[in-house]
Amino acid sequence: MPRNPPVISNDPFAQLARERRSVRGFLPTPLNDDTVLELLRLARLAPSGANLQPGHFWVLRGPVRQRLTDRLVHAWKSGEQETEDYGYFPRPMPLALKRRQVASAQALYGALGVAREDRAGRDAHFERNFHFFDAPVALLVTMEHAFGSGGYMDLGMALYGLMLAAQSRGLGSCAIGALASYPGLIRQTLGLGDHVHIVCGMALGHPDPDAPVNQTITSRCETEEYVRYLD
Ligand SMILES: Cc1cc2nc3c(=O)[nH]c(=O)nc-3n(C[C@H](O)[C@H](O)[C@H](O)COP(=O)(O)O)c2cc1C
Repeated sequence: MPRNPPVISNDPFAQLARERRSVRGFLPTPLNDDTVLELLRLARLAPSGANLQPGHFWVLRGPVRQRLTDRLVHAWKSGEQETEDYGYFPRPMPLALKRRQVASAQALYGALGVAREDRAGRDAHFERNFHFFDAPVALLVTMEHAFGSGGYMDLGMALYGLMLAAQSRGLGSCAIGALASYPGLIRQTLGLGDHVHIVCGMALGHPDPDAPVNQTITSRCETEEYVRYLD
């Protein structure tokens, strides 16, 4: 696979889309509430089926954020397992997809200098998911009212809108699907009802240009692999 996305245009949108990457190392510089609200407003401009605009974005702060992180880390370190609210990966994972998964892990751990067999090093990084990578802004994305897959599709568009809006302001973001592994714990910690599905987290803030993890560069497959023509 090529190292860079095979995008050939250079208009402002192409630049944004090409330059956005998952950011997992942040400067401590806070974001003010207005900035976060504006990003969320922009995210909500995403289209949705019948304009239902599913989901909620929770801004987790202060002791609530800390308590959630503490409990997630504890559950994960104790090996606790829950059933997720929604399935993500195909089971079994086809070999072609497994290769992409492995390549993205190699990009990440390669940037961190963590060897494949260094379990402790990988675990130490993985734990950072539950700290929202120490980003100044920690978001939780939820969805209720028993939406089906369409709701997740709508939310995905909003999430990408949020990422690009952040990127256009020089901010970085990373979706955190790892949180979806502990839906019950999150609901209980935040006092959410059983009907609230835990979709993912998101870290937002100013990227730390010196953080090795931010040198992670993933690739995309060639168009031949995912575009089909039928005449
Ligand atoms: C829905 C979703 C969930 C994700 N969950 C995680 C996560 O839990 N931890 C993590 O480090 N990255 C997570 N990522 C980031 C992906 O690994 C990343 O988007 C992918 O490897 C492509 O790299 P890029 O975003 O830098 O282009 C997630 C991305 C998406 C879209």
